[in-house]
Amino acid sequence: MAEAWIIDGVRSPRGRGKSTGSLHHIHPQELLAQVLNALQKRVGFDTSDVDDVIVGNGNSVGDHGACIGRMAVLAAGWPVTAPGVTINRFCGSGQQAVTWAAMGVQAGHQDLVIAGGVESMSRWPAPDGAPDFTSGNAALREMFPMVPQGISADLIATIGGFTREDVDAFALVSQQRAAIAQAEGRFDRSVVPILNPDGTIALAKDEHLRPDTTIESLAGLSASFARLGAHQFKEFDRTFDEMCKQVYPEINGVDHVHHAGNSSGVVDGAGVIMIASPEYAKAHGLKPRARIVMSSVAGAEPVIMLTAPAPASKKCLDRAGMTTKDIDLWEINEAFAAIPLRAMRELGITNENVNVNGGAIALGHPIGGSGPMLMQTALDELERQDKQTALITMCTGGGMGTATIIERM
Ligand SMILES: CC(C)(COP(=O)(O)OP(=O)(O)OC[C@H]1O[C@@H](n2cnc3c(N)ncnc32)[C@H](O)[C@@H]1OP(=O)(O)O)[C@@H](O)C(=O)NCCC(=O)NCCS
Repeated sequence: MAEAWIIDGVRSPRGRGKSTGSLHHIHPQELLAQVLNALQKRVGFDTSDVDDVIVGNGNSVGDHGACIGRMAVLAAGWPVTAPGVTINRFCGSGQQAVTWAAMGVQAGHQDLVIAGGVESMSRWPAPDGAPDFTSGNAALREMFPMVPQGISADLIATIGGFTREDVDAFALVSQQRAAIAQAEGRFDRSVVPILNPDGTIALAKDEHLRPDTTIESLAGLSASFARLGAHQFKEFDRTFDEMCKQVYPEINGVDHVHHAGNSSGVVDGAGVIMIASPEYAKAHGLKPRARIVMSSVAGAEPVIMLTAPAPASKKCLDRAGMTTKDIDLWEINEAFAAIPLRAMRELGITNENVNVNGGAIALGHPIGGSGPMLMQTALDELERQDKQTALITMCTGGGMGTATIIERM
């Protein structure tokens, strides 16, 4: 198989996903455009060589509508000959963008593809009616009574026996590790400052962290999804908790253990990665940082929804002829604390080499933007520790998981 090389990657800091967040006033097309230009400036590639810009986005409505991939390329001032496309695999969108960029290069169709993702969650339109993954398709809802992700995460904790103490302990480690990583500048290799229209800096480092978190402060937080789980929306004939029990009759009820301190932070952010063929890189004197070894996507039961990181990772390892022992570092997206806890249990790994610089609980999870960000974090850390291989995996809406193995060069 031909190779796809990672030449470099950059990302915005993650801004708090509220109207008071430091990136809220920046249109997501502009946010992504700034990150695209920062990558171009750092690597120095010719934008007229770009075969495509593939952008992951999980909620393509409102400011994220039309085709944000193409619009961001135009907003960046790149030549009109540089195309752009937007793809949606929910939280796995940005990781999928990298996969498809790599596939285009490996298949010999393309030489230089920029893959990335963006989500300004603070600018999502306010929800209209009941949260509904089926978009009003009653027939599909009968087949799969899908519930909001926080409730799926609580269901995972219920079935897996992950207690409130377990998920809080995991969240504390995420905060502690992220605080060390930020203090030591471990994110600096990939983070570029985002500017206001007047050229001043809007944000230069991740701002969702709460380094003063303690196990006591976490214990004091109320469950975020208990009321939602018990609410009877007029659109449905059952509560979300009852839908969980309908599919998983063995449970007595849903144990609502997730809250603001052990769920991924709602944030704004964008990240991009340059993927090139060896021929293009050599012809232009570009030194690769890593190669894409393998990538996989897996599906799983969509009501519990967030259980596919382990199956996707196993598939990826199998196809690469590798085992968990061949992986030096793991990034398992912390959508909610129970997700990496379950994935680690299924993969038979401990958290020693997992999310060593914290994860989305501390740093935030800008849906479409997260995949490239996790890959950059893994690659930066491989270089810092002088290690070779990393596996990045994420759960997604609709019951899927994405996984990618990268290897330093
Ligand atoms: C869980 C969730 C609903 C909480 O939302 P929220 O209440 O707006 O959360 P906030 O981050 O604003 O925190 C609310 C409060 O909790 C407390 N808090 C949050 N994190 C804390 C921590 N680590 N330690 C102590 N207190 C904390 C604070 O009092 C905070 O209020 P403040 O910001 O005024 O200080 C939201 O984070 C969420 O939906 N996350 C998941 C997103 C998602 O589904 N992504 C897709 C995944 S598949």
